[in-house]
Amino acid sequence: MDTEITLVVDGVEHSLVVDTRTTVLDALRERLGITSPKKGCDQGQCGACTLLLGDRRVNSCLMLAVAYDGANLRTADGLADADMHPLQRAFIEHDAFQCGYCTPGQVVSAVGMMQEMREGEPSAVTADAAELSDEVRERMSGNLCRCGAYANMIPAIVEVAQR
Ligand code: FES
Ligand code: FES
Repeated sequence: MDTEITLVVDGVEHSLVVDTRTTVLDALRERLGITSPKKGCDQGQCGACTLLLGDRRVNSCLMLAVAYDGANLRTADGLADADMHPLQRAFIEHDAFQCGYCTPGQVVSAVGMMQEMREGEPSAVTADAAELSDEVRERMSGNLCRCGAYANMIPAIVEVAQR
């Protein structure tokens, strides 16, 4: 069964007809040609498909597009305005990627993570975390990197989170 929906992606409104089984990730990648959200696992385990739904980070491979008719979504492409987003710049300055496949999801997730911290949402380690890097590691644990670029990624995120 097909349904017409509207998605607002990075400030641009798109109307499209989708099969009701289509995920937001597939609607973006396959129908709209928006490919910065990546498909890693397609089952909510790797974080490569992370988007912002409003201010909240979400795994777009787990979201049926028909349930998000009218939703306001942001991808890594939409984080920058005239200049790069501070996290995008920090990833470059810290050389925080290798192949780059996970990077859009990592950056978007870090933006959402910082919003959660600003709002005082605790993580599983907040009570015991000695360093901000412990907190960041825990909060970013839903985003996997097959290249193992964590050693540079965590300092990049910590640097921006400390500002
Ligand atoms: S592709 Fe969505 S979490 Fe892996
Ligand atoms: S940089 Fe290659 S998967 Fe993360």
